[in-house]
Amino acid sequence: MNDLTAVVEQARAAFELALTPAELENSKALYLGKAGRITELMKGLAALPVEEKKLQGAAINQAKQGIEAALNARRQALADRELQAQLQAEALDVSLPGRQRGTGGLHPVSLTLERIEAIFGSMGFEVAQGPEIESDWFNFTALNTPEDHPARSMHDTFYVEGGSETAPNLLRTHTSPMQIRHAVQHVKQHRLAHGSAVDGTLYSGDMPEIRVIAPGRTYRVDSDATHSPMFHQCEGLWVGEAISFKDLKYVFTDFCRTFFENPDLVLRFRPSFFPFTEPSAEIDIQFPSGPLAGRWLEVAGSGQVHPNVIRNMGLDPERYIGFAFGMGPDRLTMLRYGVNDLRLFFDGDIRFLSQFR
Ligand code: PHE
Repeated sequence: MNDLTAVVEQARAAFELALTPAELENSKALYLGKAGRITELMKGLAALPVEEKKLQGAAINQAKQGIEAALNARRQALADRELQAQLQAEALDVSLPGRQRGTGGLHPVSLTLERIEAIFGSMGFEVAQGPEIESDWFNFTALNTPEDHPARSMHDTFYVEGGSETAPNLLRTHTSPMQIRHAVQHVKQHRLAHGSAVDGTLYSGDMPEIRVIAPGRTYRVDSDATHSPMFHQCEGLWVGEAISFKDLKYVFTDFCRTFFENPDLVLRFRPSFFPFTEPSAEIDIQFPSGPLAGRWLEVAGSGQVHPNVIRNMGLDPERYIGFAFGMGPDRLTMLRYGVNDLRLFFDGDIRFLSQFR
C-alpha cells in the first residue's frame, strides 16, 4: 500500500516538473504507458493468490486513478499557463489614444494662388489655364521673340523637335504664352458672336476688354535655394482701348498691398527689357518694417504689351493697347511666410507643410 502511495507521489512530482505538454506526455508514459510502472504492477498480480489479487488489484486501480487525476490537473495547469501567456502577448492597451486621421491642408503655394485669384477676381480678372507642354510659337515667337533672339537663352528648357503653332515641343518657361492663347480665343469668340469673319485680319471693332490672370507651373534649367527647375508663375493681362502703364501701377500696387495686408508697402517699377513688352519694368517691393525692411525684393516682370504681340493676338494695335505682368507665386509665398529656401516647397516634408494648415 505504502509503495503505491509513493508511486502516485512520484508521478505527481514528475508531472509537476514537466513544463510543456510534450514533456508531460513523456512522463505519463513512464507511469501509465505499456512499459510504465502501473502496467508493470498489473503484470505482477498474475503470480498472486486469488484473494490477494483482488485486494492488490483494487489498490493498483486506485493508484492508477490517482496518477490520472494528477496528470489531468497538470495538463489543465499547462494549458492555462499557455493561454495566459498568449493573452499577455496579445494584450491591447485600451487606454492608449486612438490613431486619428490627420487633417489635410492646402500647400502654401496653393494658398498663395487662391489668394491671387481672389484678389484679382475682385478686380474683375478671369482665371485661365493653359498647357505646360507648349509650342515654340506660343512660348517665344508669338511673344515677339524670334528663333535667333538672345532673350531665348535666358529661358533654357527641355525641347523636342518641331514646334509649330499646333505642335508642342518644349516645357513652357513662363506663363506668357497664355497672353496669346487667351487673347486669340477671346477675339475669336467675340468675332464669331458678332458676325465678324475670322479671316486672319486684325480686329479693330468694338470688343469687351481682355482682363485675365493665368497661374500655373513653368520650367527652366535652374536649381538652387531660390530657383527650382519647376516653379510657378502667374500671368496678368489687361487689354482694352486706353489701358496704360498708369493702370498697371495702380492694379499691381493695389494687389501687393492687399496680398501682404500692408497698406504701406512701397513699390518700384525698375526699367527693364522683355521682347513682348515696351516699355518694360521689373517690379520690386519694399516692406516698411519687419525683418525684410529696407530691401528691394523683385516680385514680377511687367510692361505695356508690344504692338507685335497685340497683332499676334489678332488685334489692331492702333486701337487696342494694354499691360501685362508675370509674377512668381513661390517668391510671394516665401516673403509672406518668411520661408528662406524654395526647395522646402517641393520636398513634401509633412513637418514643414503642416505648419500651413
Ligand atoms: N514672362 C516674363 C518672365 O518670365 C515676365 C513678364 C510677363 C514680363 C509679362 C512682362 C510681361 O520673366
